[in-house]
Amino acid sequence: MDLTRAEGDLELDKTVFNEDEIVARLREMAAEIESDYEGKDLLLVGVLKGAVMVMADLARSLDRHVEMDWMAISSYGSGTKSSGVVRILKDLDTDLNGRHVLVVEDIIDTGLTLSWLIANLRSRGPSSVEIATLLRKPEALQMDVDVKYVGFDIPNAFVVGYGLDYNEKYRNLRGIGTLSPHVYS
Ligand code: IMP
Repeated sequence: MDLTRAEGDLELDKTVFNEDEIVARLREMAAEIESDYEGKDLLLVGVLKGAVMVMADLARSLDRHVEMDWMAISSYGSGTKSSGVVRILKDLDTDLNGRHVLVVEDIIDTGLTLSWLIANLRSRGPSSVEIATLLRKPEALQMDVDVKYVGFDIPNAFVVGYGLDYNEKYRNLRGIGTLSPHVYS
């Protein structure tokens, strides 16, 4: 769905990134990833459901072979805040032993979910585990997990679109925007 359609419905306050800006930035990240992983196998691990769009566009921007696998995790939290207590709903199909793993994320907010995930993946004997995220919020900068590839650092506002949801809605927007306050109320 087009951002302008959602804006027309007065649900979106402001467009943060349009489709072209997102895809262009993912191409730049893909070029970096290609050169960093030259001569190595690469397993992209996406976290359902938010990372679906990022994975699709990032993977297709990579001019090399990759494998893709998915995890579904649920982080206990209230409303829009996560708690860092995580449960695996769907695990990977792939054995990580000796693999180069790149976790593909939509957004890092507090980083709590991701810290847990990285520790979990590292315990499975991979050769390396790195993170690529399209968006990162300021709070995430305080976390102890190193994020190797960041699309955009954004201010601390709740954003939707391009995989990101509010109550499971807006994931199919082509771009990313902030919600109008009245949608929350
Ligand atoms: P963290 O553990 O606080 O980093 O939470 C990360 C998860 O919270 C993301 O994978 C999203 O599912 C969700 N999240 C955090 N900020 C936003 C946002 O602005 N819009 C939509 N979802 C968000």
